[in-house]
Amino acid sequence: MTITTVGVVGCGLMGSGIAQTAAQSGFATIVTEVNQPMLDRGLARINDAWDAMRAKGKISEEDLSAARGRLRATLDVTEFRECDIAIEAVIEQKAEKIEIFQRLDGILTPGALLVSNTSSLPITDLASVTRRPEQVAGLHFFNPVPVMKLVEIVRALETSDETIAALQNFATALGKTSIIARDTAGFVVNFLLIPYLVAAIRMYEQGVATMEDIDTAMRLGTSYPMGPFALLDYVGLDTTLYAAEVIYAENPDPAYAPPALLRRMVAAGRLGRKSGKGFYDYSHQ
Ligand code: CAA
Repeated sequence: MTITTVGVVGCGLMGSGIAQTAAQSGFATIVTEVNQPMLDRGLARINDAWDAMRAKGKISEEDLSAARGRLRATLDVTEFRECDIAIEAVIEQKAEKIEIFQRLDGILTPGALLVSNTSSLPITDLASVTRRPEQVAGLHFFNPVPVMKLVEIVRALETSDETIAALQNFATALGKTSIIARDTAGFVVNFLLIPYLVAAIRMYEQGVATMEDIDTAMRLGTSYPMGPFALLDYVGLDTTLYAAEVIYAENPDPAYAPPALLRRMVAAGRLGRKSGKGFYDYSHQ
């Protein structure tokens, strides 16, 4: 199948990055949100990123105006009937994702693909509420989406080979490298990344080193672009907690168990960069 029109549900951190990347890569792109203020915030994020790219000479005026012309924002999800693929990128709440999958299944044409950007929920659970489980898969992007080169394609129990092939071609057209993972909690990246982040929090709880020193150690000792606490704040502590809970439920090993401090910080609303404060304070940036 050929993908020409892309629909993105959710214009938060991930959804806006996916919509930006799709429009930049030549796809007619429709993005939706639950209300106008959230849609406006997401569009502002995309426009800021595009302005920064133009200022740095990374995109020509002509290409930028073409990309802007390909991006359409709407509060009316029935416009997704035009899409060859719908990408769900809303918050990590199973009930919400299930509802969106049911709704989109009724709107999309029978041949269209329906994928989720979830970082940890079982794709098979989402596929099972649709009448097109062969055309449902995971398509997991990484933050910041326009920069990070990887996409995980997640094969659920019923996903067809044709769907996997179409998603591989789509990922390539977005300028990404794809890998294929089975539908297990955390897929590949988070199954390895979450226990590392969890271990860093435990190390800090135990007073082994300051968080600044743990970050410096991993940046300079292993050339990671960010230390674990900067990365936790970047990814979002709520997202990390949710992923840890899902991975731990499927693999009840203490290495995956969410630390008490992570739970307390989420309960306190300290979610990282997006809330202005996480392990570090961003309120003056
Ligand atoms: N759109 C377009 N370009 C962007 C961008 C965006 N939203 N955000 C950053 N960039 C560009 C910048 O313009 C800059 O471009 P140039 O090099 O051409 O100037 C480049 O990316 C690097 O950005 P910065 O100079 O601002 O900062 P940096 O060098 O410190 O890099 C970073 C920032 C790319 C985020 C880097 O620190 C990094 O790679 N960090 C690790 C991120 C990571 O691990 N992400 C995965 C998290 S896990 C996840 O997402 C999955 C999950 O399910 C939880």
